[in-house]
Amino acid sequence: MPSLDPALVPVLPRTAGVTSDGHLTIGGCDAVDLAKEFGTPLYVFDEDELRSTCREYREAFASRYAESAVAYAGKAYLGRWLAALIAEERLGLDVVSGGELAVARSVGFPMERVHFHGNNKSAQELREAVEAGIGRVVVDNFHELSLLDDIAGALGRSQPVLLRLSPNVDPHTHKKTTTGVLDTKFGIPIDGGQAEEAVVEAKAKANLDLLGFHCHLGSPIFELEPFREANEVMISFARAMRNRHGVELREYSPGGGFAVQYLRDRPAPTTDQYAQAVVDSLRQVLEREGLPEPMLIVEPGRSIVARAGVALYTVGSRKEAPGVRTYVSVDGGMADNIRPAMYESKYEALLANRATEAPAERVTIAGKYCESGDVLVRDVELPKLWAGDVLALPTAGAYCLAMASNYNLSPRPAVVLVREGGARLVRRRETYEDLMRADVWEE
Ligand SMILES: Cc1ncc(COP(=O)(O)O)c(C=O)c1O
Repeated sequence: MPSLDPALVPVLPRTAGVTSDGHLTIGGCDAVDLAKEFGTPLYVFDEDELRSTCREYREAFASRYAESAVAYAGKAYLGRWLAALIAEERLGLDVVSGGELAVARSVGFPMERVHFHGNNKSAQELREAVEAGIGRVVVDNFHELSLLDDIAGALGRSQPVLLRLSPNVDPHTHKKTTTGVLDTKFGIPIDGGQAEEAVVEAKAKANLDLLGFHCHLGSPIFELEPFREANEVMISFARAMRNRHGVELREYSPGGGFAVQYLRDRPAPTTDQYAQAVVDSLRQVLEREGLPEPMLIVEPGRSIVARAGVALYTVGSRKEAPGVRTYVSVDGGMADNIRPAMYESKYEALLANRATEAPAERVTIAGKYCESGDVLVRDVELPKLWAGDVLALPTAGAYCLAMASNYNLSPRPAVVLVREGGARLVRRRETYEDLMRADVWEE
């Protein structure tokens, strides 16, 4: 029986396998058949992988810290089907826009488990959130403190809030995804006293109930130390706020940012290792500062969905640049996955229709869009590729479709959910009509 390259197993859903004729399978479905039936580019999500990951997260934190909650960060990817699955798995949800909130509401997501993030929430978004009975608003700045207080007041509500603080801890991620240092747009800096001013102001707001503090360092964070450092800074600050202003830390969130393994030779810490590092260091500093244990909320996005998603593309043209490189183009690219172009993100790739064949050439997988930077995977060893082959890009579940665009007026891909040999279309491929739906110009 042929088998997959063992080095690729950690980047594929745990249900991945191969058929006797060497086709990649996901959730018991032949990837080549999926590509045929639904077309490409196609995003395939493995339901068992998703549900197992949700459970592992809940268990990893609940077994170490009883008063804990895991809120999925929907910015990594959200569709109505996924919001419903997250609700079923009893996770919370972190939303960052009126759109994400609307998706959550459309499936009846329990609003008390929803947190609203963002550095420039509009008055309308805040109103919608408060009206919906959102669990927490994570206030990012002074402007929002006043705006939200007015809105909650006008609606006759007392809105529970956390303050998003900037602890000035560097998580050593790409500079475009580093958020917990001073030089970013996110959060109120602790250094220099602004965070303390915000605490005083929040406490004085008649319509806000300040429950605690939040920070988010960046993403993906491959090290454990930044989480320990952040706990240190945040909890020391919380103790100072209790002493100076009588503010009790009832809830605390060190955010998300947990990494996943994208490459055969770059493993990430396990969920248990992250949970252990977060909980141990939190307990230590709480004890030292003499504070009772607050409710702990973590917000993983990428690490819930990345591994469950596999993108399938059809191979098309080839360009040999002698002595330079060979480009092989597929029928998707930066419009469905901007991460390589935006963050120099790296992926593995494998041939879904000859998944066990030995590599025969080194190629660069390019997309079909009109940018030289539209490259999905640089210098990857694969079997000789021919037009019509089906190429699989693993760990494509996070921040691909979520950031997908209609660049070059391309319809966005379809999404299927697979489980135990069955495939369910959960988002159809966009059509040209979809592309023109909001275009109201008349001849
Ligand atoms: C406030 C906040 N929480 C959670 C996340 C999720 O991060 P990740 O998907 O890396 O877990 C982000 C990502 O940007 C974020 O800004």
